[in-house]
Amino acid sequence: MAKLLAANFKMNPRTAAEAVRLAKSYDKKDVVVALPFPFIATVGSVLKNAALGAQDIFWENEGAYTGEVSPIQLKSFGVRYVIIGHSERRALGETDVVVNKKVKAALSAGLRTILCVGEPLAVRRKGLAAAERFVQSQLATALAGTAGLKLTVQNLVIAYEPIWAIGTGRAAMSADAVAMAQFIKKFLKTKTHNLKPRVLYGGSVNAGNIGLFLSEPDIDGALVGGASLKIREFKKMILANQLIG
Ligand code: PGA
Repeated sequence: MAKLLAANFKMNPRTAAEAVRLAKSYDKKDVVVALPFPFIATVGSVLKNAALGAQDIFWENEGAYTGEVSPIQLKSFGVRYVIIGHSERRALGETDVVVNKKVKAALSAGLRTILCVGEPLAVRRKGLAAAERFVQSQLATALAGTAGLKLTVQNLVIAYEPIWAIGTGRAAMSADAVAMAQFIKKFLKTKTHNLKPRVLYGGSVNAGNIGLFLSEPDIDGALVGGASLKIREFKKMILANQLIG
């Protein structure tokens, strides 16, 4: 299966015109462009090959939830992927329990989920086993009660994003990312879950280091923040992915 390259624009850029300019340059298959909500309709109307993505979701399909956006609404604009549980949302108060509700809602609505997990620096300093315990607990809660939802390699993608590597310019060593990707796959393959998800790496991925991650058999792609706002850089990353795929 080809590796997935997901661009997370976060709360960028400032205008829809700029979002269209970026997204059009990235309109290739095996690319996901995860946009701020206001740009989804406009960008969705120009993408032909890349998949349209959102960066969050609410867990109900409609109702009195001021300011929230529902799975059904996103689907009606052609959204295929949604990022859930990004550490920047968790830092604003999103708990594993909330992440779990969102994962279930997204999957029930037929949206592909990019579930983000990853440990903070204080945990990583204690070593790999501590980081694994942290990530395992995030996964177990986030995926609780999903047994009936027909999770497949297509609709469940895990993004391993160690918090200390996000936006810091300090990517994880590829060996550490591989060890965690293998751990995630092993944990989710157990009797209780029996899942075989793709695992992406995210955190300071750029054109210079993406090859290290993509050449690893257990890393199924990358989730890219800052570098996805730089057209030349992200296009190089798309090319690197095509060459490997
Ligand atoms: P970064 O962000 O590439 O800027 O480190 C990754 C992410 O937050 O998904």
